[in-house]
Amino acid sequence: MTLKGKRLLLGITGGVAAYKAAQLARLLVKEGADVRVAMTEAATRFVTPVTLQALTGQTAWTDLWDARVPDNMGHIELSRDRELIVVAPASADFLGKLAAGLAGDLLSTLCLARRCPLMAAPAMNVEMWENAAMQRNLHTLRGDGVFFAGPAAGDQACGEVGMGRMFEPEEIVAEIEAFFQPKLLAGKRVLVTAGPTEELIDPVRAITNLSSGKMGYAVARAACEAGAKVTLVSGPVALATPAGVERVDVKSAEQMFETVKKAAPASDVFIAVAAVADYRVKNRAAQKIKKGAGAMTLELAENPDILAWVAAMKNAPFCVGFAAESEKLAQNAKAKRAKKGIPLLAANLAQRALGAEDNEITLFDDRGEHALGRAPKLELARKLIAHIAAMLAGAKRARAKA
Ligand code: C5P
Repeated sequence: MTLKGKRLLLGITGGVAAYKAAQLARLLVKEGADVRVAMTEAATRFVTPVTLQALTGQTAWTDLWDARVPDNMGHIELSRDRELIVVAPASADFLGKLAAGLAGDLLSTLCLARRCPLMAAPAMNVEMWENAAMQRNLHTLRGDGVFFAGPAAGDQACGEVGMGRMFEPEEIVAEIEAFFQPKLLAGKRVLVTAGPTEELIDPVRAITNLSSGKMGYAVARAACEAGAKVTLVSGPVALATPAGVERVDVKSAEQMFETVKKAAPASDVFIAVAAVADYRVKNRAAQKIKKGAGAMTLELAENPDILAWVAAMKNAPFCVGFAAESEKLAQNAKAKRAKKGIPLLAANLAQRALGAEDNEITLFDDRGEHALGRAPKLELARKLIAHIAAMLAGAKRARAKA
């Protein structure tokens, strides 16, 4: 229940994507949110208030003149106790109204009279999206502090392809969750490595490892949600880049090292989650190696230890390491933290974490051991970010005292 008790107003405007707003309402309720719905007249042509009412267990409001609202002040009352208004889908017409400050129906009135932030998930035809008037309105709305979830590019209901497709309900939920995360790393620059590395043997074969990249991507996302500017240096994985994160793709450990070297001096925090290959092939074959008779030997050279290098930098960022162990977790983790010279190390048992959605992490720092428990990787990543933020704040206090 990632949105437990959060008071939302879901605004639905007229567009084919309104059918997805029903699914969005359902997901939000499932995550524990209190979802009040307000629909424009056009939205009710696509999906009925009865559907939304059934899904949220509350009246879906449509009429500015509805006498059931206390004091007949629906346009004010219905948004007063809300923490966030989410308009999904937000049509071109509705965004135009918002940008102009118009308030001719219940939802636009609620938006204009609101005290809480507003997030819009635009949905429209690609030509409408690219129209100069639409882009002007977007610029205005961004300047007014409106948050945007999407849109994405892709197939459109009208048969055209391009920008303007509404974010999927799951993606909008992720944006709402991100919105509610405390901005513990606002203004900080965070560098994250993730995924495996790939060390070529010949043009078609490589030495790699079983890292899926999920933990590192969750860490990058959590840092971004916490308000940091995040650069994610990623080995080869099959994962989507978290929204707002700048991603640099690399393959080998040496490429990862070169990219990190460039980005580290400008970073406040470095979180090394990548499962870097400890060795690379010394004499990589230029052509595909043919099968010979009997056994074959590969000569390996040691790869640079990226984390240890960053930790030893003059003015090094706050360094966090990950340790995937197969046994004696605490003992190995403590030794690794000392050897790498880092303030914080997150350790897990590899056999429980590889490729899985869940993980079980214990943090090791100067003050000892902190078990974060077993949870989905994103939840653990958020706890890790909170721990890092607390350590940074502690270090700042100590500096101020000295
Ligand atoms: O020594 P080990 O590989 O177990 O250390 C794990 C930590 O060190 C991880 O944070 C990993 O990203 C980092 N590391 C690195 N460069 C290497 C090896 C590990 O940055 N060559």
